[in-house]
Amino acid sequence: MLVIGGGAREHALTWKIAQSRKVKELYVAPGNAGTVSIAHNLNIKPNDIEALAKAAQDANIDLTVVGPEAPLAAGIVDYFERLGMPIFGPTKAATQIESSKVFAKKLMQKYAIPCPEGVIFSAYAEASEYLKSQPAPIVVKADGLAAGKGVIVASSREEAQKALSDIMEAKVFGSAGDRVVIEECLLGKEVSLLAFTDGKTVVPMVPACDYKRVFDNDQGLNTGGMGSYSPPGFFDAKLTQEVMKGILEPAVKAMASEGVPYKGVLYAGLMITPDGPKVLEFNARFGDPETQAILPRLQTDLVDILRAIVDNRLSEVTVEWNNEACVGVVMASAGYPGSYNTGFPITGLDKLDKETIVFHAGTKLGENSQIYTDGGRVLTVTATGKTMAEARGKVYQNLPRIHFDGCHYRKDIAAREVN
Ligand code: AMP
Ligand code: GLY
Repeated sequence: MLVIGGGAREHALTWKIAQSRKVKELYVAPGNAGTVSIAHNLNIKPNDIEALAKAAQDANIDLTVVGPEAPLAAGIVDYFERLGMPIFGPTKAATQIESSKVFAKKLMQKYAIPCPEGVIFSAYAEASEYLKSQPAPIVVKADGLAAGKGVIVASSREEAQKALSDIMEAKVFGSAGDRVVIEECLLGKEVSLLAFTDGKTVVPMVPACDYKRVFDNDQGLNTGGMGSYSPPGFFDAKLTQEVMKGILEPAVKAMASEGVPYKGVLYAGLMITPDGPKVLEFNARFGDPETQAILPRLQTDLVDILRAIVDNRLSEVTVEWNNEACVGVVMASAGYPGSYNTGFPITGLDKLDKETIVFHAGTKLGENSQIYTDGGRVLTVTATGKTMAEARGKVYQNLPRIHFDGCHYRKDIAAREVN
């Protein structure tokens, strides 16, 4: 098998896949210092689709799994399928559910999938005029992929106008800003529910919460995610059913009706409002860092699930989860999510309790097996426990034993679940 990507999400996928007795040879491109001990790292970038296909052919890969959104949006699944090579993930057209906020909004409006009230604009002047009539706070979203920076939750009209001008006039995200969605700001609890789907059968994973801001108490800039935990206490089986029946199943059906059947992981970013769950965003892939808190709870062989989806027979697989709690905390480089330096030695990884699972992201293997920092998010330190307090306690006991120059992490991941 081949896993594409090099973050902690991909290390978690590789780690889980490596546990399957069905997999004899496991590759990851490009991987990181953490995947070296469980797979062969291939030095190929996730966007180099031709080189990835060639490497997969050369290594006789039976199944490729895509981590990040960029290669999906660039059509890696279409490319592999044309060559007759099995690959897990949605096609380029189906990936629009993530790569175009306009596509996702139109789909939800047409099929009555609960989401914030929103209006689509392709001209700056009209969008700006509309904003004048709307109360703050208000949310402005660039249509296309913008490395997680294309959504502005504006607390004043001025801030919203500035965001709109940046996106549509100054084109700070390039053509991703040709269109925008302007939508009402929802209040409530934010949570992610991901599902496996082969386009027909939809099977939920366990819910997880993600922490986007860099500092404790949700202060500071937005990041790719500073930690995650599963399950959130408020997310009971009834809510899972509600999201399945009202959101995930209708979305998969809607995609089929639109002629863009959806296969892979469908990720619903939700706000649980007084009127029920509503969709803030869909993603076309596993979440990062949610995956690091979800996969340690998966009991079924992940390879059986992925294979069944590729073969359109997910209904034949029983997907089982354990009842444990899982917490993952991200250790980041000084300066992240702004600019940061890399190349600092990481120490203490050998001093951790055996039960801690460390998923690597921006790490690199140097000489004498020394591991160095190589990115903004460096590690996700994870543990499971019978209770959230136990899982959380294990992670925070072990984190101080790891060190690299300037490292920082949030101290409040899953805190609201235990206090
Ligand atoms: P998105 O990429 O669409 O998930 O947006 C990024 C973040 O912005 C989300 O995780 C939410 O915290 C926030 N957000 C997006 N849309 C809304 C909305 N309509 N109301 C409130 N917050 C939102
Ligand atoms: N955790 C948010 C994402 O994966 O997009």
